[in-house]
Amino acid sequence: MNEEQNQEASDNHTPPSGGGGVEGRSVGIRIDIISVVPDLLQSPLGHSIMKRAQQRGLLEVHVHNLRDHTPYKHGQVDDYQFGGGAGMVMMPEPLAILIEKLQSERTYDEVIYMTPDGDSFNQQTANRLSMKGALLIICGHYKGIDERIRQKFVTMEVSIGDYVLSGGELAAAVVVDAVGRLIPGVLNDETSALLDSFQDGLLAPPVYTRPAEWRGMAVPDILLCGDPKKIDAWRHEEAFRRTEERRPDLLSDDVLGKT
Ligand code: ADE
Repeated sequence: MNEEQNQEASDNHTPPSGGGGVEGRSVGIRIDIISVVPDLLQSPLGHSIMKRAQQRGLLEVHVHNLRDHTPYKHGQVDDYQFGGGAGMVMMPEPLAILIEKLQSERTYDEVIYMTPDGDSFNQQTANRLSMKGALLIICGHYKGIDERIRQKFVTMEVSIGDYVLSGGELAAAVVVDAVGRLIPGVLNDETSALLDSFQDGLLAPPVYTRPAEWRGMAVPDILLCGDPKKIDAWRHEEAFRRTEERRPDLLSDDVLGKT
């Protein structure tokens, strides 16, 4: 969503409570994203569940083009780094101007900088962020943003994995998607988010659909037995087995909070 499309979109739905400091689960979240390539966010946030969340007024996403807020000529937002070295750095002043403008309009629960040297993003963080009212996400580009912006404004630094993307936009889209789908009312059947991988600390169990027999491969009989208790027990066992096999680290005492 660019700012104009956002305006259009917000004309079509009830705005969520956005404004920060919401106790417990809020009815919706407002997320502002600062980017130098806003188009990169259009598609990931404009379809499927994210689109529905916005149409239902449960999620409001505003993407701000940093170049529209720079005080410098020709939309300049980056410059050479002090000390030399390849790669440009995003200048502090355009970011500060836009962050301060947004902060004067509402209180943000977190100002998040997407960066490969941030804390690893996981389901626990997504759960925590889904309880907030307003988030501001800064997407870096080039060599990143001037360190002083991190010191002055940023409250959370988030990495989506140990690899380097060309910018923070795709990482921001991952965060918005993971958080947005947890807002009550976004998924048709709210329990389906509760059954996601990681939600109970385990990977999800295998799933099957029709036909019950496909190319000589049958669906496990238990799923056809019609007894929800037995099916739940089987799913839990399978989830555990799969986790033990693929991600034993998730079952360590550390992760289970037993130390
Ligand atoms: N920007 C570039 N790479 C990133 C990553 N892995 N996570 C978050 N933001 C990033």
